[in-house]
Amino acid sequence: MKILYVAGEALPFASSGGLGDVIGSLPAAMNESTEHDIRVVMPLYSQIPETFRKKFEFLGSKYIKLSWREQYCGIFRYVHKGVTFYFLDNEYYFRRYALYGEYDDGERFAFFCRAALEILPEIDFIPDILHAHDWHAALSVIYLKQCYAKTDERYANIKSVFTIHNIQYQGQYDMAILGDVFGLMAWDREVVEYKGGINLLKGAIVCADRVSTVSPTYAKEILSPQFSHGLDNVLNANSFKLSGILNGIDRDYYNPSKDKEIFANFSTRNMAGKAECKLGLQRMLGLPERDVPMIAVISRLVSHKGLDLVMLAGEEMMKGDIQLVILGMGDKGYEDYFASLADRYPEKCKTLITYNRDLSKQIYSAADIFLMPSKSEPCGLAQMIASRYGTVPVIHETGGLYDSIKDIGCEKGGNGFTFAAYSAYEMLGSVNRAVSLYYNDREYFDKLRKKVMRVDFSWKQSALSYTELYNQL
Ligand code: GLC
Repeated sequence: MKILYVAGEALPFASSGGLGDVIGSLPAAMNESTEHDIRVVMPLYSQIPETFRKKFEFLGSKYIKLSWREQYCGIFRYVHKGVTFYFLDNEYYFRRYALYGEYDDGERFAFFCRAALEILPEIDFIPDILHAHDWHAALSVIYLKQCYAKTDERYANIKSVFTIHNIQYQGQYDMAILGDVFGLMAWDREVVEYKGGINLLKGAIVCADRVSTVSPTYAKEILSPQFSHGLDNVLNANSFKLSGILNGIDRDYYNPSKDKEIFANFSTRNMAGKAECKLGLQRMLGLPERDVPMIAVISRLVSHKGLDLVMLAGEEMMKGDIQLVILGMGDKGYEDYFASLADRYPEKCKTLITYNRDLSKQIYSAADIFLMPSKSEPCGLAQMIASRYGTVPVIHETGGLYDSIKDIGCEKGGNGFTFAAYSAYEMLGSVNRAVSLYYNDREYFDKLRKKVMRVDFSWKQSALSYTELYNQL
């Protein structure tokens, strides 16, 4: 099958989070392990490094109609790890300060989605399946169903899959811009209307042939108001098309035995490098260079990541003989709190308000325990990456965290420490279990480390599940 992924970001070109990881690694895994031809279309952001841009091949250009506007769209191509990427160029829309969060995101991504469909004849790739990801790409599914498939027979047989990576971000706009910005008609209103406004995620859920999300548990959770951010009614009405497929990670990019970014390499056969990684990080951050359990938090500092629990437990955690390293940026309240915790406990806590992939690898490889107490988590990649680097996860049992990490106390013996109730007290209990295992039974802790490193979080299984989903269509 020919499949086109429509997405707002992909590594190694431009990314703001887990979506970029997925679009940067799933297509390559699919192309390797299946017969499908998966290609990706994304915006040509000014953030894409020049080293890549200069290798992009210019295929041509086209003017895209968007309501009363006619906007230039340059089409570039680049093949990366066997996957063909198309980049859509328009500097007015994509030469901006950030990938998202601009005042006119609605218009920017309407342009992107229309252009993604318009270029198909130009690039001579009419896909069997259009697979759109998150709200930035939602309009491609809506336009396909509401406009193109109805009026142009080249588009009439394209099926669509829409994947929700995080239901919190929905693309909500005032109904007044339905025609003017999105170029939709009065009769399309019903499809995108939600509580009087436009909700692009809702529109894509209604229009897509299949809807998926990034773990089986999250697919169930979002049917309830507690997790749905308002969309449970829409999802329940469309539950026949909903499924959940767990993400994987790129095992070559995250590979402790080969990484050049970390202080020393190690593998389950020779773990000596792991201790060197810890020493290297302690030295770099100015933490005491001692054998003490190091707990890491690597996360966007936003509310659904469960950081309020870490705030509540912060002082208590500082009473133990541990080191805590926090990496991330986001809401100011969290940034300030973790910065002040580090100021007050310089021997125990370091907070790095930034995000940098190399630095994150240095922390994943150095730490012993990885804390991820998300209130909700569609899939979560950090717990898988941490596992790959022998850092034992402590997680809240939700979404993809629940699907990937089981407690060591469970019947079959697990691969981490988990807690069920969303409470700081419960979280502390699990952190303490991990810390005391480190102190009281190091042999067992080291065995557990190797066990978590061996868990297969590759894309292999997920690629099979996506193939099954595509086959249904
Ligand atoms: C979003 C979700 C995260 C998921 C990622 C990739 O960032 O919040 O849980 O792993 O998308 O699907």
